[in-house]
Parts: sequence; structure tokens; C-alpha cells
Amino acid sequence: MTILVTGGAGFIGSNFVLDWLAQSNETVINLDKLSYAGNLQNLASLQGDSRHTFVQGDIGDAAVVGPLLRDHGVRAVVNFAAESHVDRSIHGPEAFVQNNIVGTFHLLEAVRAYWSELPAQGKSGFRFLHVSTDEVYGSLAKDDPAFTERNPHEPNSPYSASKAASDHLVRAWHHTYGLPVLTTNCSNNYGPYHFPEKLIPLMIVNALAGKPLPVYGDGQQIRDWLYVKDHCSAIRRVLEAGRVGETYNVGGWNEKANIDIVQTVCTLLDELQPRADGKRYAEQITYVADRPGHDRRYAIDARKIERELGWKPAETFDTGIAKTVRWYLDNPQWVANVQSGSYRQWVNQQYGAQA
Ligand code: NAD
Ligand code: DAU
Repeated sequence: MTILVTGGAGFIGSNFVLDWLAQSNETVINLDKLSYAGNLQNLASLQGDSRHTFVQGDIGDAAVVGPLLRDHGVRAVVNFAAESHVDRSIHGPEAFVQNNIVGTFHLLEAVRAYWSELPAQGKSGFRFLHVSTDEVYGSLAKDDPAFTERNPHEPNSPYSASKAASDHLVRAWHHTYGLPVLTTNCSNNYGPYHFPEKLIPLMIVNALAGKPLPVYGDGQQIRDWLYVKDHCSAIRRVLEAGRVGETYNVGGWNEKANIDIVQTVCTLLDELQPRADGKRYAEQITYVADRPGHDRRYAIDARKIERELGWKPAETFDTGIAKTVRWYLDNPQWVANVQSGSYRQWVNQQYGAQA
């Protein structure tokens, strides 16, 4: 049996592939176009492992996706591939429309063509799992109840609008064509291999480099944080036992204001790697202009996945953030390579024309 993972060289996708192969011998085909966010160094420990095949390509390219599905007899697709950074979507929304909406459309069509030719048993057992975000639900006021799966989609940024559009396509391909889909809407992830353009890794990396820690607006925006490995276990569980056509919210029950996250990172660094001058990392915090259209609060009600599938996060925020800060301290070369772009040279050297 084989699964196709798209976007498996990115932050969550690479964690998912590593976790999958740590727990099962089922082969993974990993399709990733290697945008700036795709990094094969995340998967270096799988080099020479015949259970993992990396293919550089675009989910929007049916000439790549169709043969991959057929040649490997894929029984499930897990779709992580997307442009994922809200700030980049504000500066350049087109890539989000292309990759997240048009890309998902072409992927769905290639999968539908493959799935419709499968024998009855293969057809009913097949799954297309779409990895989405809580941002599709819009923004909450301070005392609003957390998002449930029944909240309407009210996206506010080009990124969240593109993810909402892809969710709708996935839903429609189930209702119209019967494609056996599952959708997960997850809150903010953090953990190893997180690209240092996002809040937590950016703060760790900037703090250690003696740079300012840029907090947008008043820093009181709230996100619900989930350790990435818990997201991976939720996806495995939904793939295994989720009801076809359903959506499942995934979250960590960890609502935190941004400024509190930054303070926590600073305190951990004060303990683990104190500044040479004896000062506190928090002195580097700098309030900067707010993100345009900045969503004030996200909160996930994850009771459905717990009730129906028995999934709960294993990490608390305290344990997850400690592991995360430790990982960045233990992997300065990974950070340096990502920042210098030299991982691209590494990819060419290691994988040649294949990547
Ligand atoms: P990421 O930016 O780290 O990785 C995305 C990966 O997708 C990259 O490796 C990139 O090369 C690849 N990719 C992009 N467009 C592609 C295309 N057209 N064809 C093939 N590959 C393509 O993102 P991430 O944080 O790992 O997020 C993965 C998925 O999870 C995204 O769909 C995102 O919307 C969703 N999500 C992320 C979070 C989070 O907190 N990071 C939370 C909820 C949901
Ligand atoms: O909620 C899930 C989403 O979480 C995912 O769908 C997205 O792919 C992922 O990028 C993330 O989006 P956010 O916009 O919430 O994440 P980001 O790390 O960019 O920002 C987190 C919060 O921190 C947000 O309120 C903006 C703020 N922020 C961010 C950066 C990069 C700052 O204050 N300063 C910064 O420098």
C-alpha cells in the first residue's frame, strides 16, 4: 500500500512523513515543488530509505500526478501543498490563488480520474485528505465561542480566502462526484523544521542573533497553538477512521496572546542560552506596525475529533514549546542553511536532476 503526500518537504508535511515512516512501513510518495518553503534537508534522515520516494513537481501538473497515482497504486492522498504565509499573501496574492486554488483543482481532477477507474473495493477504500486551517473561519471577538465545524467560512486574508476556496472545491468534489474526501481545519502549528518567517521560529532565531523581536500591533492577538507532531497524529487518525465527507477541527486548547508567546520564548532562552551581556532577551522585543486586516483571535473547538475518533493532543504548550526551543538550539546548521539558501545547493548535490 502507498500514500501520496503533497507538500511533504514543508514544515508540517516533512514532520508528517517522518512520523508516518516511524510508525508504519507503508510507502510514501512525496510530491513537492520545492518552493522557498520546501526543504529536503528536513528529510535527510530518510536518505536511502526505500519506503520514501521524493518527486519534485507541482500538484497542478496532471502529467506528473496522474502517472504517480497509477504507477504506485496509491490508496490515499494527503494534501499539504500550499503557500502558507499570511504576510506573503498580502504582498503577493497571486501565488496563493495559483497554488492553493488552481493547484488543488487540478489535483482533485487528476485524483478523480484515477479514482473513477479503480475497482469497487479500491474505490470505496480510497481517501483524499485535505489539510486546511482554522483561518478559513475568520476572526473571533474576545468572548465568542471557539470555532466549530459548523462555523461559516469567513476568510479575511488572501491566504485564508485561498484555503477556504480549496476547502469548497474539496467539498464539492465529494458531493458532486462522490470522491471520498476528508478535511481537517487546524490551528497554529509549531515545532521542528518550522520556517523562520513564522512567529515562533522567527523569535527564536532573531533573539539568538541579537536582532529585534517584531511584535505586530499591540501583541494581544490570540492564536491556538498545537505542537506539530500532534497535528500529524490527528491527520493519521482522521485518515484511518474519519467519516467520508466530514471536516474535523484540530487544535491544542492553547489560546495564547502573541506577546505572551514571545515572552515565553525569551524566558526559555534566558534559561537555556543566556545572553553574553547578562541582559534579558525580552529587551529585544520591538512593537512594529500591525499586519493589514490582522485577525484578532482564533480558537478551535476540537471536541468532534475527540468524541468521534478519540484524538487528543499529547503535548501541553509548556512541553511543546520547551522541545521546540531546544530543537532550534540543537540545530543551528539547519537554521543557517535555511537562511543562506545553501540548502538548495545541498539538494542539487544530493539529489541531482531528481530534485
Ligand atoms: P509550508 O509553507 O512550510 O510548506 C508547504 C509545502 O508545500 C512546501 O514544501 C512547498 O514547496 C509545497 N508546495 C507549495 N505549493 C505547491 C504546489 N503547487 N505543488 C507542490 N508542492 C507545493 O507550509 P506548512 O506550514 O507546512 O503548511 C502545510 C499545510 O498545512 C498548508 O496547506 C497549510 O495551509 C496547512 N496548515 C498550516 C498550519 C500552520 O500553522 N503552519 C496550520 C493549519 C493548516
Ligand atoms: O491558524 C493557522 C495558520 O497559522 C496557518 O494556516 C498558517 O499557514 C500559519 O502561517 C499560521 O498563520 P498566522 O498568521 O497565525 O501565523 P504567523 O506565525 O505568521 O503569525 C502568528 C501571529 O503572530 C499573528 O497574529 C501575527 C503575529 N506576528 C507574526 C510575525 C511573523 C508578529 O507579531 N510578528 C511577526 O514577526
